[in-house]
Amino acid sequence: MIGAISAERPTASSRRVQTWLTIAVRIWFVVAVIGQLMFAYYIFAFYGGSAMRNELGSWNEVLFHGLTKEISMGNVAIVSHIVFAAIITLGGPLQFIKAIQSRAKGFHRWNGRIYVFVALIMSLSGIYIILVKGPVGSIYMAAGNLLNASLILVCAWMTWRRAVQRQMQAHRQWAVRMFLAVSGVWFFRLGFGLWIAIHQGAPGHTDAFDGPFDIGLALAHTTVPLLFGELYLRAKRSSRTVQKIAAMVSLHFATILTAIGVVMAAIIFWLPSL
Ligand code: HEM
Repeated sequence: MIGAISAERPTASSRRVQTWLTIAVRIWFVVAVIGQLMFAYYIFAFYGGSAMRNELGSWNEVLFHGLTKEISMGNVAIVSHIVFAAIITLGGPLQFIKAIQSRAKGFHRWNGRIYVFVALIMSLSGIYIILVKGPVGSIYMAAGNLLNASLILVCAWMTWRRAVQRQMQAHRQWAVRMFLAVSGVWFFRLGFGLWIAIHQGAPGHTDAFDGPFDIGLALAHTTVPLLFGELYLRAKRSSRTVQKIAAMVSLHFATILTAIGVVMAAIIFWLPSL
């Protein structure tokens, strides 16, 4: 009995390790938010800027399928996908800021509802584009995109359900998974950039996106971030110091990869269109 009670009480060293873990996740989050702001800026500046100048044609220089001249469901899907892309990229990180969670509860609730709704639109419009207009790149890319969309939908549903059921710990865990799944397309660009930074080229990549690297990235851009997230969530709950240290080290590693990926993605994908 005494042993059980003392095991539950965190020691000074386990509290210290918990603090290190919290700091590690916050550093990763800050780097990720900077990278997502850059992605959002690109969406606003390129797509928003050319729409305001009435130069929608320049969207087709970047998009794989692009817009067609007639009014069609395909165009509606693409335009809504792009408009909501900017909203979801900005809205997600706000949900994790503690000051907003505690001092602006109404904002947190409404932004959360909008985030879940926009995730639904993004996933459904993405699925529509792939199934009706065809895959972007290879069939492997389509499979990766569909996996990404399915995981977004599952995580969004669970995040919302747990909030409604007032199971706040589970709600927070599903929100982390949802944020990582929603960031899948952003991670894809980072992964591509990272590969080029490491190899000074793109071995395993083909123009048709069916090389071994392309197949790996199609699967990994959603699953690897979720695995890192799971490591963190389990370590946070665990009382084992070694598990917390392993998660902390993996988070610092993820921060370095994320920072390099963001710089490379900006150079390869975002800056050339601005
Ligand atoms: C939820 C977060 C998402 C964001 C922020 C996002 C963002 C974007 C952006 C900005 C583009 C334009 C390409 C570019 O300029 O880089 C795009 C295109 C595209 N997205 Fe997404 N996307 C998301 C989710 C998805 C999902 C889940 C799918 C798949 C089911 C998907 C499928 C597509 C497709 C197929 C295109 C290409 C359209 C074309 O080239 O004609 N997206 N997305």
